[in-house]
Amino acid sequence: MRAHSIAMLGTGLIGDFYTMTLHGQRGADRVRVVYSRSEERGRAFSERWGIPEQTTSIQAAIDHPDVDVVVVALPNHLHEEAVTAVAKAGKAVLCTKPLGRTAAEAQRMLAAVEKAGVFAGYLEDLCYTPKTLKAIRSVEEGAIGDVTWVRSRETHPGPHSAWFWDGRLTGGGPIIDLGCHCIEIIRNFAGKGNRPVEVLCHTDTLVHPIDDEDNAIALIRFESGAIGQFEVSWTFRGGMDLRDEVAGTHGTIWLNHFLRTGFEMFTAGGEKGYVAEKAETSAGWLFPVGDEVSELGYVDMFTDMFRSMDAGTAPRETFYDGYVVNSIMDACYRSAKARAWVPVELDWRGGTTARIAAKPELYDGQVVIKRELLPDGREKLILKDPATGDFSDRVVAVKG
Ligand SMILES: NC(=O)c1ccc[n+]([C@@H]2O[C@H](COP(=O)([O-])OP(=O)(O)OC[C@H]3O[C@@H](n4cnc5c(N)ncnc54)[C@H](O)[C@@H]3O)[C@@H](O)[C@H]2O)c1
Repeated sequence: MRAHSIAMLGTGLIGDFYTMTLHGQRGADRVRVVYSRSEERGRAFSERWGIPEQTTSIQAAIDHPDVDVVVVALPNHLHEEAVTAVAKAGKAVLCTKPLGRTAAEAQRMLAAVEKAGVFAGYLEDLCYTPKTLKAIRSVEEGAIGDVTWVRSRETHPGPHSAWFWDGRLTGGGPIIDLGCHCIEIIRNFAGKGNRPVEVLCHTDTLVHPIDDEDNAIALIRFESGAIGQFEVSWTFRGGMDLRDEVAGTHGTIWLNHFLRTGFEMFTAGGEKGYVAEKAETSAGWLFPVGDEVSELGYVDMFTDMFRSMDAGTAPRETFYDGYVVNSIMDACYRSAKARAWVPVELDWRGGTTARIAAKPELYDGQVVIKRELLPDGREKLILKDPATGDFSDRVVAVKG
């Protein structure tokens, strides 16, 4: 295993989570230099995480001779500039979500890393939570049959820094901030090779006095016929709600990542302390998260990134995935404006997916619509006559 020497660009919330993960256990990969605009914040960050050097120059961090991997943990409007500079320097680059503010920006970033031939990973942690990885594996192994519907929800009371509220810097409201996670979770369950065809989206600004949306709901129709549904909000009260549901022809999966993780605690109020990201209270019934960096996917995400880098293979989450997500988000904004279904415009590399097709079962020349076991042990069949289109019930004995 090769030990990697990392430049961390950014000392905000995600810079902390990333460094906490990288330095958290006994990993060999270490942050060698951190970039912050402010010397003071850079120094405080270095002291917090035992980082040997800090700089106020992005280029100096990228060009540091010991550094072979650069992590972009900066606000959205700086992703393209940072990624382009890393690609030019010929180093590996890992970029936080969303990849770009728009699909055009994301596509230029994709082109830059492909042209330079450098390793590039899209840091989409919520597709790497241990529960999600296991659920995706179950779906891929056919445990729930064909996926028909995926719902992903991320809501909280709103972001923690001023720049998030300025659509010029971010590209939009919670669709960009949270919808990017939901869309990629949905793609992982619906199938990455399943083309997102069209989108219907509703947005509104209900609570915060901002120009962008603070609530949104959208449907994504995939080529297989599967529907993705996401709900995002910056006005939800009660912490951070992260839930996914997957419906298949043979099964169902429900995931709750944050507010009901099996760890519930009551306190009448003692020492104030950190409970979990975006928790609104530290008294009463609390829903702490055991190991946040693990449960939010950061640990498995970096493991995949560095293993793939060493093996010379693509990680689970690539810049192309980031570009597809941006293309779907662009379509969401177009749809909300048009108040109509709109096509997802993108340079698709994923091939084609067959439509989910029911294979009708016949009983006595009739099409079986449904089978249901009765309390007395017999079975009731709901049948349709293929000639007349009439429906009927038939109760049958269950074979031995
Ligand atoms: N789960 C996740 O993957 C996740 C979670 C949070 C944030 N993010 C992403 O990480 C990025 C940073 O978000 P954050 O939560 O750390 O934000 P933050 O506000 O906590 O930190 C942003 C950092 O960038 C610096 N910064 C701000 N404006 C700058 C400028 N003009 N030039 C240089 N530096 C500047 C700030 O000083 C700070 O160090 C965003 O793209 C965000 O979407 C990802």
